[in-house]
Amino acid sequence: MEQPIVIALSKGRILKETLPLLAAAGIEPAEDISKSRKLIFETNMPNVRLLVIRATDVPTYVEYGAADLGVSGKDVLMEHDAQEVQEVLDLKIAKCRLMTAALKGSEISSGRIRVATKFVDLAKQYYAEQGRQVEIIKLYGGMELAPIMGLADCIVDIVDTGNTLIANGLEPREHIADISSRLVANRSSMKTKFKQLQPIINQMAEAVTD
Ligand code: ATP
Ligand code: PRP
Repeated sequence: MEQPIVIALSKGRILKETLPLLAAAGIEPAEDISKSRKLIFETNMPNVRLLVIRATDVPTYVEYGAADLGVSGKDVLMEHDAQEVQEVLDLKIAKCRLMTAALKGSEISSGRIRVATKFVDLAKQYYAEQGRQVEIIKLYGGMELAPIMGLADCIVDIVDTGNTLIANGLEPREHIADISSRLVANRSSMKTKFKQLQPIINQMAEAVTD
């Protein structure tokens, strides 16, 4: 008998780019996700359901096996870093870079600096590798404001077009990582539901474009 499969999707900017990849695997939501306040959706496949949740919560659902598969930005995955979450496919969507940024032309002291970010562990690890002393200040969004208001010397954030930095008088400095969204799987599900998950993963892989 077919086992139930749950796929956790990030609401927000990744969702639109994820749906065509799922459709390539024959999975389509039973109703228009963008027109609903629901968090859980039936699909055309009787045993497959979709969760539509905050991007940062996707790895948690997959880690605990509440979802078998998930779609999540590499930035979120690096920050979450859970053993039970296995990256199975680079979907090559929502491409961007994780960078440090500071006020245009500002000098960053070689001593201890303050860094504002929502990627606390990632930033700690990056600066530790650089041998730099930092105090990390956790923010939940709009990081660009922190250097303007003197809250921090620099930020660690996502950069795509660079427009947000420019609009706020900041400039990109150090490149930390190239980011795209990944298909992840719960490690135990990969064993117990492999027969059902494998075709989904393979068909999504075939639909990935650069
Ligand atoms: P949350 O809703 O949990 O706060 P979020 O606001 O970061 O998370 P989104 O803005 O939907 O969620 O971003 C989801 C993912 O898209 C990020 O984890 C990142 O991988 C990628 N991303 C974020 N900003 C951009 C951007 N400007 N251009 C391209 N990709 C981006
Ligand atoms: C993301 C990121 C940057 C911006 C970068 O913000 O945090 O602020 O996009 O994109 P750009 O280089 O093309 O301007 P988002 O819109 O997700 O808002 P947030 O501050 O709530 O994360």
